[in-house]
Amino acid sequence: MTDHYAVIGNPISHTKSPLIHGLFAQEARQDMQYTAIEGPVEPDTAFADVVRKFAAGGGKGMNVTAPFKLKAFAMADERSERAALSGAVNAMKFEGGRILADNFDGIGLVRDIEINLGLPMAGKRVLMLGAGGAARGALLPFLEAKPAELVIANRDVAKAQALAAQVAGRGAVVACGYADLEAMGRFDLVVNATSASLTGDLPPVPPSIFRPDGMAYELAYGKRLTPFLRLARNAGVRNLADGVGMLVEQAAEAFAWWRGVRPDTRPVIDRLTVPLD
Ligand code: ATR
Repeated sequence: MTDHYAVIGNPISHTKSPLIHGLFAQEARQDMQYTAIEGPVEPDTAFADVVRKFAAGGGKGMNVTAPFKLKAFAMADERSERAALSGAVNAMKFEGGRILADNFDGIGLVRDIEINLGLPMAGKRVLMLGAGGAARGALLPFLEAKPAELVIANRDVAKAQALAAQVAGRGAVVACGYADLEAMGRFDLVVNATSASLTGDLPPVPPSIFRPDGMAYELAYGKRLTPFLRLARNAGVRNLADGVGMLVEQAAEAFAWWRGVRPDTRPVIDRLTVPLD
């Protein structure tokens, strides 16, 4: 019998999830169907109604994207620790009338950096720009990768400090503002987890943060050479990445959680990769 899954968001027409999961299912020989659902933003309870209806109709799981990650978090019966810390959910599994929830964005990002791009984070100096949902989701998986130091920089410094305080004791993490970065030396990995690139903006970072033999990672996918990646390239960084690998790896985590089989991500990443130039 065909098992049903879906991604829910609004808008949803841009989503690559059905393509990614379709390719995974083909490769892993899984009898499943994966569709895209445009979730209702109003009234407030409508999102939860659509999810429950999907589950009641035999749906096995859902991916959740903007703007519903917090609502999915709120309606879950059980949440993983990383979902609890990020306050956001990007994958749900429906089992025995219960909603189990997780967030694979951060672990997908770490797998992409460490496995696909070949930069083990252990012992490295890592800088995360931003303290919104994307940064929050990455925090615990990043610390589990044991960097020598994780610096969170944000315009609103109090937000970065609150994030760092939440994970104090889980690793070497400090918070600062952009103006402090000049004095903090070079980083092996700089991740842009702000939403600045979505509007063509650049967080006000000095080029001195980059090591030419390090990596600059832009979370936004398919935006080509964003102002952030351009700054890194001008600073001599050759290893530039956008979020395509993270997108595919987080999907693979959800797929493995649902199906018990880990799909091969390489061909899917290759297929979705958009050249930066
Ligand atoms: P979400 O939770 O959906 O990721 P968010 O909470 O609004 O969205 O977070 C967006 C992040 O991008 C924040 O870290 C924000 O910085 P502030 O917390 O200081 O507002 C950051 N951001 C957005 N536009 C930016 C810009 N032009 N320059 C620098 N940081 C920016």
